Amino acid sequence: MAEADIKKGLAGVVVDYTAVSKVNPETNSLLYRGYPVQELAATQPFEAVAYLLWHGELPTDEQLAELRAEERRHRALADNVRAAIDLLPLDAHPMDEVRTAVSVIGASDNSGSGSVLDAAGSPEENLERSIRLYAALPSIVAYGQRRRRGQEIVEPRDDLDYSANFLWMTFGEEADEVVVDAFNRSMILYAEHSFNASTFTARVITSTLSDLYSAVVGAIGALKGPLHGGANEAVLHIMSEIGSADNVVPWLDQALAEKRKIMGFGHRVYKRGDSRVPTMKAALDTLIEHYDRPDVAELYAKLESEFVSRKGIYPNLDYPSGPAYNLIGFDTLTFTPLFIASRVTGWTAHIMEQTASNALIRPLSAYNGADERHIEGYVPDA
Ligand code: ACO
Repeated sequence: MAEADIKKGLAGVVVDYTAVSKVNPETNSLLYRGYPVQELAATQPFEAVAYLLWHGELPTDEQLAELRAEERRHRALADNVRAAIDLLPLDAHPMDEVRTAVSVIGASDNSGSGSVLDAAGSPEENLERSIRLYAALPSIVAYGQRRRRGQEIVEPRDDLDYSANFLWMTFGEEADEVVVDAFNRSMILYAEHSFNASTFTARVITSTLSDLYSAVVGAIGALKGPLHGGANEAVLHIMSEIGSADNVVPWLDQALAEKRKIMGFGHRVYKRGDSRVPTMKAALDTLIEHYDRPDVAELYAKLESEFVSRKGIYPNLDYPSGPAYNLIGFDTLTFTPLFIASRVTGWTAHIMEQTASNALIRPLSAYNGADERHIEGYVPDA
């Protein structure tokens, strides 16, 4: 096989159709079911975007109310999920904690026949499972952060919408509207991004006719890596290392001399800037003003301008979202679990799409190992 025929990292390979979202690197645009993500972030609650990803259309008022009611019904942390989390060491990475919690939810779901032959589930079962996970994840993420801080669990509030309730369960106080709005925008921006590594992982698992929970657990594993979702956590580590705008130049000189990757910059698909960044940067700016933290703005701007001018590599969504989540008060370790809480909507939309027109995903490889050889003294049976 010619070297050129091997598409390492599947770069540039189109493996299937999807109607869930369209990433257009030429125009730096991202559409969810046809709608520009910026328009959705400016006008919709996250619940409506979840509905859009699952159903293909924005909800009517009645449909939105129904989804909200169902989401509220499934919000509370189940006893066995809490017990499983409590068994984990306090220094377990929260991504492992959330992965474990999703696994427990899956193992406890007795809908369906329980036979492996029915694991893939019907469209109705999978929609129900998707809503259940989407509703349960905020309480898992919030509980994780509170547990690590030695704080009591905060129960969900039925009078608050998704984003406001998420912040309530995490911090035990009602967040200001400007904070809820910035958080809601981040949830929308993270929700979906075509065949990224975690979504593709979910589709590969689904393609074997495995179950939705297994596919989400696998996707969480893929998201954890710093080349993917883990970058929002890594951005904060970098910003803490740098400390202040004055230190950007010497820090960057050394980091580039050591050939370090600068987290929060670069993207496999977008080469001239990530379509989601301007919207998230605007949300970050409102938080910077709200919390009166011009130092964050200075560091952000200095690192961006220095790195872009030296390398021509632009920020991705994790660059503004990392400091935004920090300002809101989330622990750095909680950032990637927030990504899960959002992206579970996109993952499950893809899982349902894959199930509806399935083909087992099984690529080929070019062998470059040892030539054929044999066990010394082995004599085949006559
Ligand atoms: N810092 C320093 N150099 C970089 C960076 C970066 N952030 N990104 C790319 N480069 C350089 C690479 O070192 C490489 O240089 P070389 O050709 O001299 O070896 C060149 O640019 C191409 O980089 P690749 O990693 O091969 O490009 P690819 O398209 O595979 O990578 C990726 C995309 C993995 C996102 C990369 O840009 C990266 O590692 N960024 C940092 C991690 C990150 O922010 N991930 C978040 C992704 S977006 C998201 O999940 C929301």
